[in-house]
Amino acid sequence: MKLSGKWVLITGASSGFGAAAARAFGAAGANLLIGARRVDRLAETAESARAAGAASAHFHALDVSSTASVQAFAEWVKSITPTVDVLINNAGGAHGLDPVSTARDEDWEAMVQSNFLGLLRVTRAILPLLPHHAGASILNIGSIAGHVAYEGGAAYCGVKAAERSVTGALRLELNGTGIRVGSLDPGLAETEFSMVRFKGDATRAAKVYEGTEPLVGEDIAETLVWMASRPPHVCIDEVVIKPTDQAAIHKLYRRTKTA
Ligand SMILES: NC(=O)c1ccc[n+]([C@@H]2O[C@H](COP(=O)([O-])OP(=O)(O)OC[C@H]3O[C@@H](n4cnc5c(N)ncnc54)[C@H](OP(=O)(O)O)[C@@H]3O)[C@@H](O)[C@H]2O)c1
Repeated sequence: MKLSGKWVLITGASSGFGAAAARAFGAAGANLLIGARRVDRLAETAESARAAGAASAHFHALDVSSTASVQAFAEWVKSITPTVDVLINNAGGAHGLDPVSTARDEDWEAMVQSNFLGLLRVTRAILPLLPHHAGASILNIGSIAGHVAYEGGAAYCGVKAAERSVTGALRLELNGTGIRVGSLDPGLAETEFSMVRFKGDATRAAKVYEGTEPLVGEDIAETLVWMASRPPHVCIDEVVIKPTDQAAIHKLYRRTKTA
């Protein structure tokens, strides 16, 4: 399916995967509708997507943890276009890396609100705009954390496992409409993810990637473009993408520094 002239909506496009996806779909000639809470950063993403070749790039404040914000965002989308061809549910992230015994309610709630309830809210609001039988796609960003649990990740692994369930349920509910539903589940990627997880502790965030070669936003973006541009009869259900250095969630190869 050609993406040129198609309408692509991306949540969480103020940084990381979402911003890279905006540039990649822009380079394919799509029209972009992007949202996140940091509007100044959205403006930068929109500018870079236009420079990459986007047919148009529109942005609006969006907090997926608020139903009112999601509704206002959907109204704004409808004021621009009657249809959305590709919905990318990317907004989310991890907050903290504490074991269950000491983790904080506010971190759990932030993760559930953005990664899980936000995905449901945005999908509910935008579904009526997705055309039937025309190769439309809903692409959800999951994680390998949704496949295998790790210490300190109980809530984050839980919400990413929930993302897989939402993706599966939606695919069943939309069977017969021609709307495709897929999940892209990355492993370790260097974005602002670790800065958010560790609440701005740059030293701790940098250690996550030390000595290893993680994925970058562009790796995820080009995979999303590939998933969305398959012929309409082809649904890519699930893609797991990891750095070559990450053989499994607990096995990450790190080069040791030589003096
Ligand atoms: N990096 C990794 O290793 C990795 C691996 C697997 C999966 N993921 C997932 O990939 C997705 C993107 O993360 P990233 O790595 O690109 O990290 P990132 O650079 O921190 O980007 C996260 C994006 O989500 C947005 N966001 C967070 N909460 C939001 C909310 N309540 N409402 C609206 N937007 C919100 C942020 O925008 P604002 O702060 O401006 O709102 C930002 O644009 C997340 O779902 C994450 O869980 C990441």
